Amino acid sequence: MIIKSEEEITHMRASALLVSNTLAMVAGELRAGITTLMLDQRIHQFICDHKAIPSFLNYHGYPFSSCISVNDVVVHGFPNSKPLKEGDVISIDVGVVLNEWHGDHAYTFCIGEPSTAISNLIRVTKESLYKGIEKAVTGNRVGDISFAIQEHTEKKHGYGVVRELVGHGLGKNLHEDPQVPNYGKRGSGPKLKEGLVLAIEPMINLGKKEVYTDQDGWTVRTKDAKVSVHFEHDVCVRKDQAEILSDYTPIEAAERLNQNLFPSAPVKLFA
Ligand code: MF3
Ligand code: CO
Repeated sequence: MIIKSEEEITHMRASALLVSNTLAMVAGELRAGITTLMLDQRIHQFICDHKAIPSFLNYHGYPFSSCISVNDVVVHGFPNSKPLKEGDVISIDVGVVLNEWHGDHAYTFCIGEPSTAISNLIRVTKESLYKGIEKAVTGNRVGDISFAIQEHTEKKHGYGVVRELVGHGLGKNLHEDPQVPNYGKRGSGPKLKEGLVLAIEPMINLGKKEVYTDQDGWTVRTKDAKVSVHFEHDVCVRKDQAEILSDYTPIEAAERLNQNLFPSAPVKLFA
């Protein structure tokens, strides 16, 4: 478990925010008809334009700069040339290395008005991320984060919590100790110390928790083919209140202004 100095955390804040801004750029581009391969190209270019390296590209042989996971794909979806369509649920996960420090986070979008079932799943998964983050304070244990996420999603709403994939420590490496499962017992696991940076990332299924990996060796899908949602933040453990290094504000702002995502968004009369 590697504790970061304040100077290192300052670097990690910049890395996390570059990912946030990349996702905000994508939030403005999303529409029915665009392909996830086009989005991946935009993401790659945006990261390079900001003097950073797309960290997923070639990570254990991963062949793209982002993971774009549509509908029943849980995570690690390959960008492809199939156009997105109305009603698609799209999780986008982006990683960068900026000045040697990693940023890694994710957000889930929907093209057009989602069904109540889907909008609830999206809302509850995002809520569960913040409930987990609340527990990322000195003296708590990893299991307190895990328990909070599982309580809100599985116990309260009956969703499937993916067991095979977990959150993780983040720093000069994309994956550091400790692992941060989205299920577990309160008061269990490693103790949290101030300056520990975690990528907390609930992966929550509308249906059952079971998943499988495609022939390509990466794409993780739900066994029951129902929709899955993924939100991820980079978080620094602090004494009284966790510090969220990444920022959904620019993503949510871009999302709300995109008429292709929110048909009720204000119409822009003048360019
Ligand atoms: N955010 C994911 C994770 O933390 C994505 C990394 S997988 C990669 O595990 F291969 F695409 F890099
Ligand atoms: Co991650």
